[in-house]
Amino acid sequence: MVLIHDKYFEIYLKSDEIQSEVKELAVKLNEKFEGKTPLIIVVLNGSFMFASDLVKQISFDHEISFVKLSSYNDFSSLGNVLELIGLNIDVENRDVIILEDIVDTGLTMNTMVEKLKVLKAKTIKICSLLFKENAFKGDHKPDFIGFTIPDFFVVGYGMDYNQKGRNLQEIYKLKN
Ligand code: IMP
Ligand code: MG
Repeated sequence: MVLIHDKYFEIYLKSDEIQSEVKELAVKLNEKFEGKTPLIIVVLNGSFMFASDLVKQISFDHEISFVKLSSYNDFSSLGNVLELIGLNIDVENRDVIILEDIVDTGLTMNTMVEKLKVLKAKTIKICSLLFKENAFKGDHKPDFIGFTIPDFFVVGYGMDYNQKGRNLQEIYKLKN
């Protein structure tokens, strides 16, 4: 059990379970993208550890870009919109693989896919380590999923609770 800020978390997925699932995801991606040169887009911050382990097992030719979605106020629409920052490689006519730590409501993936379509990506596939199926209300289910999990809050292996806990090797869930 670990204490992060004011909350206790208990182990949910052990390091070796995560590593073997990451390996299986790499095998699936290797089959799918053999002979192609996709652009891997890593959605920071939470995905950094997953991406780092996954790409070590990838055998196809590829390029990697690290992006963030940051919100800003758009005064023309008078709303809070998400801006994609850090994309330093041309997406037009590319096969794209989005790497995510966790797909929860799916709204982040809605935004990502929408933006990549505007940039004229040829194909877009989503690979997420975790998928909260019951919380999902988006339009783009991940194409490659490590673990489908219930709708509870997790931390570790890159994911945070108020910026803490990212370094944990295991994935923990909130203790109730
Ligand atoms: P979505 O837009 O609701 O699908 O959520 C996207 C982002 O919220 C993920 O990429 C995570 O960074 C974060 N997130 C969602 N659920 C959790 C969780 O249980 N723990 C930590 N971060 C989470
Ligand atoms: Mg994320």
